[in-house]
Amino acid sequence: MSKQTQTRRKTVKDIASAKGGDPLVCLTAYDAPTASILDEHCDVLLVGDSVGMVVHGLDTPVGVTMEMMILHGQAVMRGSEQAFVVVDMPFGSYETNADTAFENAARIMKETGCQAVKLESGAYAAHQIAHLVERGVPVMGHVGLRPQAVNVTGGFKAQGRNSDERARVMEEAKAAEQAGAFAIVIEGVAEDLADEITRQVSCPTIGIGASASCDGQVLVLQDMLGYFDWTPKFVRTYHDMRTEIGKAAQSYAADVRARRFPGEAETYKLRKQ
Ligand code: KIV
Repeated sequence: MSKQTQTRRKTVKDIASAKGGDPLVCLTAYDAPTASILDEHCDVLLVGDSVGMVVHGLDTPVGVTMEMMILHGQAVMRGSEQAFVVVDMPFGSYETNADTAFENAARIMKETGCQAVKLESGAYAAHQIAHLVERGVPVMGHVGLRPQAVNVTGGFKAQGRNSDERARVMEEAKAAEQAGAFAIVIEGVAEDLADEITRQVSCPTIGIGASASCDGQVLVLQDMLGYFDWTPKFVRTYHDMRTEIGKAAQSYAADVRARRFPGEAETYKLRKQ
């Protein structure tokens, strides 16, 4: 591809400067063909550690590894051209200390070519965020419902619904902002808390189960496409892929069993000599 026709990939400046402007559109992506479909519609593609649950069938993201995130991050980078790609740091890859966090973040950036990493930011993580940003790694924070912490919180429960929790989530968001996060995901919190955080932090907020007033929205792609029997309250389902895939598989199975597949058009013949 010549320089003139090359698509420019969005940069951290494009995302950070969206504060208070047109809402940022973000979806999760885990593979190349899907990333290539989503690319023109999304500002941000998030290679979330939700991949562990959505693709690999885990109950929580706790079992997700660096290798899994790198493999899926590489695929999404290959499939996309213009979207800003963020890869999640998996559980256990950044909490111990800032140096380990940098080693793992640098590995994700180098091996995938992604533009930024995301980490779930309890108050302790501010130090890690500052350490990464100072060393050239753009960081997206993640506050509220933190799926990597479900073993402590007792499940995937909305956060910030009483005054103590509310104060904690607000503190975590401010700490992430002050440490240099260029954007913050707010997941599963009361709407007015998401509104308040969005007003109080200077970087864009990206909501999921949060508020329409956030500076952007993110959903797990398979949730919004209707892959699962159950989805959280905050998901709007735009398609019924579970039924569609089932119907396609049923038609294929019927064709195979009746020897209608493969047909004339789908088989190779001897070339005439
Ligand atoms: O892992 C993920 O997909 C996420 C989004 C739900 C924000 O963190």
